Amino acid sequence: MSTIDYSEKIPNNVGLGGDAALQRALEQWQPSYLSWWNEMGPEGTRRFNVYLRTAVAADPQGWAHFDYVKMPDYRWGIFLAPREETRQVNFGDHKGEPVWQEVPGEHRANLRRIIVTQGDTEPASVEQQRHLGATAPSAYDLRNLFQVNVEEGRHLWAMVYLLHKYFGRDGREEAEALLERRSGDQNNPRILSAFNEKTPDWLSFFMFTYFTDRDGKFQLCALAESGFDPLARTTRFMLTEEAHHMFVGESGVSRVIQRTCEVMKQLETDDPGKLRAAGVIDLPTIQRYLTFHYSVTIDLFGADESSNAATFYSSGLKGRYEETKRTDDHKLRGLMYKVLTVQRGGFVEKEVPMLNALNEVLRDDFIRDSIAGIGRWNKVIERAGLRQRLQPPHKAFHRRIGSLAGVKVSPDGGIVDDAAWAAHEREWLATVEDRAFVASLMGRVVDAGKFANWIAPPVMGVNRQPLNFEYVRFG
Ligand SMILES: [Fe+2]
Ligand SMILES: [Fe+2]
Repeated sequence: MSTIDYSEKIPNNVGLGGDAALQRALEQWQPSYLSWWNEMGPEGTRRFNVYLRTAVAADPQGWAHFDYVKMPDYRWGIFLAPREETRQVNFGDHKGEPVWQEVPGEHRANLRRIIVTQGDTEPASVEQQRHLGATAPSAYDLRNLFQVNVEEGRHLWAMVYLLHKYFGRDGREEAEALLERRSGDQNNPRILSAFNEKTPDWLSFFMFTYFTDRDGKFQLCALAESGFDPLARTTRFMLTEEAHHMFVGESGVSRVIQRTCEVMKQLETDDPGKLRAAGVIDLPTIQRYLTFHYSVTIDLFGADESSNAATFYSSGLKGRYEETKRTDDHKLRGLMYKVLTVQRGGFVEKEVPMLNALNEVLRDDFIRDSIAGIGRWNKVIERAGLRQRLQPPHKAFHRRIGSLAGVKVSPDGGIVDDAAWAAHEREWLATVEDRAFVASLMGRVVDAGKFANWIAPPVMGVNRQPLNFEYVRFG
């Protein structure tokens, strides 16, 4: 067992007490982190006692301990998955060499950029979700929101540890900057655009945790393959936390759909107006939210052709999803990959060197994984005996990054002109009116065992507790 030391000011399993300079540096960063949390973390929660899980060991089995925690007293710390003594670089030009315990000088700038980009998403999502507590549909959901928030805060700690330990002065400056950028800020925004969007309501939150935390999963999986061992070990532990975030999203959307289907059957209607009047979210609105979040999230994987992606891979910094399960040579020189582009008004698949297409490879892995969950949502509709189905939009729909950026495409993959786009955009993407309607449903329901009208209760409580358990004690 890789037990975590909670007697230290900063809980950790990296022997922080044995590195006085690093410990001092992180203890100096800690108050800045806490003032960021108090300013930008979940609003008005200082007195709340929340039934949260905390890591007690970094082994994937049974690491979690559940108890009431006063939110600002959550023990954020540094937890790395256990070190494998004989681990080797599994891909790229250094394949077969022992993994690095220090940053190789020639890859320093690239590694720092990878870590900062990942690190920036973590506080960003906390900022995006800051006001959601005011409109929670139940105490159960409120607790899940806070669980996600404290863990995203801990993911920031994970990246800041790497910056402080391995990148000297530059790293310390980056760690400060991570607390200075703000989601959606005009002058100092977060790095990636999906992390500057608003998460104004709970349907957005569930879509975000389903799609955008899943982007996190794929990025972390690719980094968990890294030849820089501390990054691999950090991200491997983060992945055990990430699974819960995606569960919150998948089950959240699923419960919204279930409730809508119940009312559709009761009222024997699919008329959005009647369903909205009955206080549930009609399936076309859910579809438009889905389409929006899907399209914004697949942009996060970056340009479909990228020389940086090739460099990150060949240098052994960032692998592919499930790298070691793949059967090619893990160097990829001479291999090709098909990338979708538009030529003369039609889609064509262009063959490009796979090394340059690794962002696209990861995006395609993500797409397969997220479509599987949409299928599970459709099962909920099917079980209700209804014929409607949700669908992922075409990959080229509403893209802003890569060779498909700016091409006007309908969700079913038809290339359209500006006029057609303007005429149909409101049917395809969540509108101001859709968002206002969803916002109008958002009221605070936090009495034990009660759920807002627009969402079905979950199948099971947290940590086998009953649904009417007091998940949050409001001090
Ligand atoms: Fe995260
Ligand atoms: Fe997450």
